[in-house]
Amino acid sequence: MASNIIQVRDLRKTYPTGTEAVKGVTFDVKEGEFFGFLGPNGAGKTTTINMLVDLVKRTSGEIEIDGLKLETDAREIYQRLGFAMQEVGLDETATAREMLQLHGRLYHMPPERIESQIQKLLKLVELEKVADRYTHTYSGGMRRRFDLALSLIHEPKILFLDEPTQGLDPHARKLIWGHLRELNKAGMTVFLTTHFMEEAEALCERLAIMDQGQIVTEGTVPELLQKHGAKNLEEVFLKTTGSTLGEDTVDPSGDPFIRSRH
Ligand SMILES: Nc1ncnc2c1ncn2[C@@H]1O[C@H](COP(=O)(O)OP(=O)(O)OP(=O)(O)O)[C@@H](O)[C@H]1O
Ligand SMILES: [Mg+2]
Repeated sequence: MASNIIQVRDLRKTYPTGTEAVKGVTFDVKEGEFFGFLGPNGAGKTTTINMLVDLVKRTSGEIEIDGLKLETDAREIYQRLGFAMQEVGLDETATAREMLQLHGRLYHMPPERIESQIQKLLKLVELEKVADRYTHTYSGGMRRRFDLALSLIHEPKILFLDEPTQGLDPHARKLIWGHLRELNKAGMTVFLTTHFMEEAEALCERLAIMDQGQIVTEGTVPELLQKHGAKNLEEVFLKTTGSTLGEDTVDPSGDPFIRSRH
């Protein structure tokens, strides 16, 4: 049986504002697994993933990645993981190619490997033609694809993605799904948050659903359906979080709104 590549124990985050965003979360991700993290807006997904990659300091709890403790081995862990986050920071003074080169150097990659990776990744995310443009001129979908390429430059062992296909058109979304599947098949562990049930069902071997700072259920899709007596993942989501999902949720009264709480 595969060993745990991510171990999280009683992880908590209280922001200086007093918001308890994560209230004691415990879970494991196995090596080579495609793991999904779902939950309504404000559930604490981004806070959790940001703590895992050391972008947000945890209030308490333990994080172990690839057998190393985040507390003492953050630098070593950093070499092994890649991440593409919800809030993308783009540079007004560098082109996509330059940013990829810079990232490669930050990971101490040899120049030839940087170049071959850049070629491969630009092709992968279909940005070859715009690689020499400043990234702040990119559209939203181009930014997300670029960010994915950036996260993969050093061929990380573990990839963290916070809503990687949000705002992508159907073609780009399917493109990314295909590549994530291939990367995972080649051995990369993927930790993904998403609001798309279809995406979670298509990609994730196992899922955790989070609500109000806590994990409310976890398992494979068939396990979750059985456990909650549900027909599909959306129903599991509804039963465990009391929320309906998605950008296309419409109020029966006719007012469109982002999501509804029942
Ligand atoms: N920097 C911050 N300072 C204070 N509170 C924050 C901060 N970031 C997030 N929060 C709060 O923490 C809670 C969890 O937010 P988080 O961004 O982790 O949720 P999420 O599950 O990623 O939501 P979404 O689906 O909208 O991305 C929310 O109540 C949010 O307002
Ligand atoms: Mg988020």
